[in-house]
Amino acid sequence: MKILDQFISKVRATIPIDLQIQGAHCYHKVRLWLFKGATSPVFQELRLPDVDEVSLEKIDFSSPFLFRQNRWKSYFKRLREEAPVHYQANSPFGPFWSVTRYEDILTVDKNHELFSAEPFIVMGDPPAGLSIEMFIAMDPPKHDIQRQAVQGVVAPKNLKEMEALIRLRVRDVLDNLPVDQPFDWVSQVSIELTSRMLATLLDFPYEQRHKLVYWSDLAAASPETTGGVGTLNDTFLGVADMARHFSALWYDKAARIAGGEAPGYDLISLLQSHEATRDLIKRPMEFLGNLTLLIVGGNDTTRNSMTGGVVALSQFPGEFAKLKANTSLIPNMVSEIIRWQTPLAYMRRIATRDTVLNGQLIRKGDKVIMWYASGNRDENVFERPDDLIIDRSNARSHLSFGFGVHRCMGNRLAELQLRILWEELIERFEAISVLGEPEIVQSNFVKGYSKLMVQIARKA
Ligand code: HEM
Repeated sequence: MKILDQFISKVRATIPIDLQIQGAHCYHKVRLWLFKGATSPVFQELRLPDVDEVSLEKIDFSSPFLFRQNRWKSYFKRLREEAPVHYQANSPFGPFWSVTRYEDILTVDKNHELFSAEPFIVMGDPPAGLSIEMFIAMDPPKHDIQRQAVQGVVAPKNLKEMEALIRLRVRDVLDNLPVDQPFDWVSQVSIELTSRMLATLLDFPYEQRHKLVYWSDLAAASPETTGGVGTLNDTFLGVADMARHFSALWYDKAARIAGGEAPGYDLISLLQSHEATRDLIKRPMEFLGNLTLLIVGGNDTTRNSMTGGVVALSQFPGEFAKLKANTSLIPNMVSEIIRWQTPLAYMRRIATRDTVLNGQLIRKGDKVIMWYASGNRDENVFERPDDLIIDRSNARSHLSFGFGVHRCMGNRLAELQLRILWEELIERFEAISVLGEPEIVQSNFVKGYSKLMVQIARKA
């Protein structure tokens, strides 16, 4: 078996990555034709019942409408109170445990030997044939080696160098916003700023930066894995296009360095200069996986925190007044926004052996979902958990970045971007008025917004 695996890896290393994705796409189409599409879950939006109208066994915590229909707070509150480690026997993604209390989530997240991140960190399984490998879904020691190879891209020294550039880009975006007229904050600010950042991290052609957002959105919205809205066909086409661009980026960078150019602090340069990842291009699914992880990791999350902050401050106008009176609260407010928003609702694990968690027997092989969105609203840890309190003393204790070996690698970068955004906003604008309800994305994983109409008033 090992020899066969080695043979397959060798063959794969010689085939361009995009062709491999196209092959997987064909395989998937044949499967769909043979099984008449019965393998993909299909979601239809129906009104979710009030928490008091339904028994605990019947609540579907995998529903991609939980957040969009604003049912999540009451559902999770009931779970925290009545069944903090809760088994859902049926769901479109199979059975799973929901862990909803802060302390239990920490126990699971910090114990990677007992709760494995392999083979995937979202509820469903990857589409057949598209098993791209990311270190977020690997256990030590492989995880540690791969993480170490790329984490220089967000090392403090690199971030310091990036700060001036981020500020310039934030100023440019804010100075070009329409004043005293409605516009969509999500597309004009949040997406614009995160795409600029991603292009910097990857040294990706700046004028094509919106492709990064498109690919990342496709990867994060798959109905098979998160209940989102993308079609699998689009996902395969997008991943093949992404593979083509990333391979070209890799070879172009290698040629420039071979031609005497100094390696930069971008991700591709780092991967090419690290012993463990120098030949990553020859392990196509791992190559693609690690690059996808960086763009997905840094895309939705930061974008939705940028939008979430505006939504939260409009719901708690007293906090906006507090902020204007004391801008030194911005760093703490950034943590509080990330807690309040919780841009990624959960991470999934698999139990590696039978174990007992808060009185419940979890069997080897069971799926365990750590609901950060619930832990961040645990009233035993956060006072008035549903409120945004920008000077909350324990805001930094939020779970949104996870804990343990997988703790978010980009947390400092995300905080830096948000801090600069709010510093520049407060300097320019008197008010940011939210016009109507935000549009919430359909997903059980990404907790975010597709549209938020606002109007800004400049300072006199
Ligand atoms: C991992 C959230 C920004 C890159 C994670 C995890 C979460 C998370 C929940 C998994 C933690 C766990 O399993 O314990 C967030 C949030 C962000 C954010 C809420 C913004 C507010 C970023 C940015 C980047 C990034 C900007 C890009 C540099 C990563 C990577 C991992 C990760 C590479 C995998 C770490 C590992 O497995 O060792 N993030 N993230 N994230 N994030 Fe972030």
